[in-house]
Formats: sequence, structure tokens, C-alpha cells
Amino acid sequence: MKTRVTELLGIEKPIIQGAMAWIADASLAAAVSEAGGLGIIACGSAPLSWVEDQVRKARAKTNKPIGANVMLMNPEAPELAKLLADLRVEVVTTGAGSPAPYIEMWKAAGIKVVPVIASTAHAKKMERAGADAVVAEGQEAGGHIGELTTMALTPAVCDAVSIPVITAGGVADGRGMAAAFALGAEGVQIGTRFLTAEECTVHDAYKQKVMDAGDADTIVTGRDSGHPVRQLKNAFARQAKALEKTAAGNEADSAELEALLAGSLHRAVEGDVKNGSVMAGQVAALVHDCKPALQIIDDLMAEAQAWSAFDMQKMADANAVRGWKQA
Ligand SMILES: Cc1cc2nc3c(=O)[nH]c(=O)nc-3n(C[C@H](O)[C@H](O)[C@H](O)COP(=O)(O)O)c2cc1C
Repeated sequence: MKTRVTELLGIEKPIIQGAMAWIADASLAAAVSEAGGLGIIACGSAPLSWVEDQVRKARAKTNKPIGANVMLMNPEAPELAKLLADLRVEVVTTGAGSPAPYIEMWKAAGIKVVPVIASTAHAKKMERAGADAVVAEGQEAGGHIGELTTMALTPAVCDAVSIPVITAGGVADGRGMAAAFALGAEGVQIGTRFLTAEECTVHDAYKQKVMDAGDADTIVTGRDSGHPVRQLKNAFARQAKALEKTAAGNEADSAELEALLAGSLHRAVEGDVKNGSVMAGQVAALVHDCKPALQIIDDLMAEAQAWSAFDMQKMADANAVRGWKQA
């Protein structure tokens, strides 16, 4: 299948594995790229030496394109941006801010730049800054989220920009992928479904919690502080919610909340799924098994064709010219 996203990124299938800090390393990224999607190494706040090592390891496992993700609030973002330009990863995705200061450098290194956005205003700004595509991420997603749902955000962003739009948030199977294309997307970015890929190195307890989750099992912390995060309900999330209510104007509770949040994703990734933040999206409820990344991708592609009342290729072609009104 060819879409503007597959052409742009040099991949065979329009499926991107979302960056997941502390989780998406060379093992998962290389498996996804080797399977024909785009694997992304999540740099998070990891040391630069770790990033370099993971890119090297991914390259040893696959000759296909590899991406890396920069969280722009990382104080080391400028050094990381330069390192990725030197390493010439094929694609950079960015979260939590504007990558505008780095776009020229990345493009000069031949890197495709794909910011993750949560509003049409941000999407337009990124298009003007020279982004090659955007990931429109709805608030169903796991991890740090915006306000709009995928269903509302995707078509709005498709109307607002002419670069390709990749939908993220709430896609875990072929139905979701077909729905994203029906909304105008030309690719999907998937995080939660890949948490239980065999090649994903997150602790088994984390994978089990994702597989056990039902549709009412995610919760968003941090809405009031302006840093909303979707994760699975557990003792950590309950305590964080309780402290959020009392932290404003209460120094002791505020300090306790800060201490609780520090390193919380890492704790869960290491296996403490009670006291850590088990970030996952609402589609955790659709994830019931562990299987190789290749199988996840092949099943998604086959299901998308089977579930769709439309022809996926025709939808992609219509979306490329934003021609859904004529199609
Ligand atoms: C555990 C976890 C960690 C994440 N970390 C990052 C990150 O470091 N950078 C980023 O841009 N997005 C991050 N995300 C968002 C994903 O890349 C992706 O956009 C999202 O998971 C898609 O929605 P889904 O969870 O419904 O598949 C994270 C998501 C999860 C579940």
C-alpha cells in the first residue's frame, strides 16, 4: 500500500510505532521497521550515549528507516537534536513543544521531521515551519495528551494543512486504522498496541496490566497542572489524583506530589505497576495478547482491508489530494 506517508518516510506500510519513553528502544523500533512500518526510538530524557547506542543497535538489526523522538521539554533537547542530525536517523518526531529551531538542521541532514500536535493551530504552525507531516494525537492516547479526541482532531487537522496527517490515539486494530483513513489520515501512529509486542522490553507486569485493562480502566492525572497524562488506574494514580486536589496552596502536599511523580513511568516500566505510572491509552481494552511486531502489523493491515467498507488504497489516494468530498 502506498500513501504520501509511506512515500515520504520510505516505508512499506503506513504504520508508525509511537515513541514511548523508557520503553521504545532499539529492540521494538527495529522490529517494527523490519516489519515494514516505522520504528521510533524514544529518547525521552535518556543520556545521549544511550541514544547513540540504541541507534547503532537498531541499525545492526535492520537496514530499513529508523526514527527517533525528541521530547522538547528535555533540557538537553538542543544537544540531542544535534546528535540525531549527526546520526542521520531517517525521521524525527517531536512532542511537547515546537521543534522549529531544529528543523533546518534536521532537513539539511536529510531527516524527515514529523511533529506530534494536538490542535489545528499547532499543525498550521508546524507546516509553516517546514514540517514534512504531522501526527495528530487525540486524547484517547496513552501518555501526555491534549484536549481533543481523535475523531474531532483528525479531520480538523486534515482541513487545516496540506502536508500528510498521521492519526494517533485510539488505534489498536484494523477497524481503528480504517476509521483513521476515513477521517482523512494517510498513516497511523500506534503506542499502546505495541506495548505488548514480543520485542517490547517493558516489564511483563506492565504488559499483563495492559492486557487485563477494560475500557473504564484509564485515568488522566495532571489536568489542572497543565500536564495531563493518561495511564491505567492503580494505587499511584489514585494517590496522585488525591494529592492534586490538595496540592494547590499546600506546600507539603505539593512537595509530596512532586516526589510521587518523579520517575513514576520508569518505576512502572521496571515492574512496579502499583506505585508507578502505567501509561497506556483507552485502547488497552482492545489489547489481549502478546505477539511479534510483524504479526501486529500484518494483522492490522489485513483487518483494515477486511473491516473497511471502502478500499484503503482509494481512501489514501483521495486523502492525498484531500479529495474526500469528490471521492
Ligand atoms: C507508555 C507511553 C509512553 C509514551 N511516551 C512518549 C514519548 O516519549 N514521546 C512522544 O512523543 N509520545 C509518547 N507517547 C505517545 C505515543 O507515541 C503515541 O502517540 C500514543 O501512544 C498513541 O496513542 P495509543 O496509545 O492510543 O496508541 C507515549 C505513549 C505511551 C503509551
